[in-house]
Amino acid sequence: MTVKIFDTPEVQNFLKAVSGFDEQGGSHRAKQIMHRLLSDLYRLIDDFDVTPEEYWSTVSLLNALGGQTQFGLLSPGLGFDHYLDMRQDAIDAEAKRNGGTPRTIEGPLYVAGAPEAEGFARMDDGQDPDGETMWLTGQVRDVDGKPVVGAKVEIWHADSKGGYSFFDKTQSEYNLRRTIVTDAQGRYTARSIIPSGYGVPEGAPTDQVLKALGRHGQRPAHIHFFISAPGHRHLTTQINLAGDPYTFDDFAFATREELVIPANRIEDPAEIARRELDGPFSEVVFDVELARTEAPELQVRHKRPRALEDAEDQASQLAGTAEV
Ligand SMILES: [Fe+2]
Repeated sequence: MTVKIFDTPEVQNFLKAVSGFDEQGGSHRAKQIMHRLLSDLYRLIDDFDVTPEEYWSTVSLLNALGGQTQFGLLSPGLGFDHYLDMRQDAIDAEAKRNGGTPRTIEGPLYVAGAPEAEGFARMDDGQDPDGETMWLTGQVRDVDGKPVVGAKVEIWHADSKGGYSFFDKTQSEYNLRRTIVTDAQGRYTARSIIPSGYGVPEGAPTDQVLKALGRHGQRPAHIHFFISAPGHRHLTTQINLAGDPYTFDDFAFATREELVIPANRIEDPAEIARRELDGPFSEVVFDVELARTEAPELQVRHKRPRALEDAEDQASQLAGTAEV
């Protein structure tokens, strides 16, 4: 079929009416963005000759995605999270804000209010029988290599089945979530368990979208971080453990070369005893470099709906309903 109606005055006027251009109320920015979005989609329908069946199937899929709060999962899968990082990197480069450990995506599963500790914390509750002990440590430094004392290192990761506490109701409160304040040497240390990678639930709406693209929905084993200190740029990042089959094939596009870290198996009894552990463990060392900034807005994480970040806030409550 070769019918093309997008460029007709009738459709163009219709788009303006739908976008509220003739109305006094509403937001100017919302009207502009909606007009652009609808224009792109109308043109797409014309160009690809989208059938009513395809259109209404898509509406059903969107309903299913929303019903299962999976947009936060589809978003990294379709590269939006990484695209926002690419833009932020470009904005920093333009402003000559260079240096520091690279950022990468936050993901949808942070939960505010994890217990805080000085220097060291045990993150796991000891209830995961398959959990291999992980000794996670590192030093936070500035761009001159000077230790940053009192930096806040927020860490969260999945259990041995790939589930996150709070969202996975079988786990205890704040399991595998801690905030550690760096010690006099700028160091943080956590005893935890090696996380497993995880996959988008089989058959879920996000999985349906990825399957239609011939893609998988797997993430490698990874550990999330927020790192902040006064006078330094807030860092949102994560490390991917080396050797996972998906380390360089992450459906969420979060892997960055500099953020791939090995987990080294240690069986030396002296090293085990030094850490007061009861058997072999894997050590993960992640040193962090924070860039300097005087701008207060760059010293804190950007705003977005996050679970329990503001318990009174509707967006915060909705962020806490994500299905993973
Ligand atoms: Fe994650």
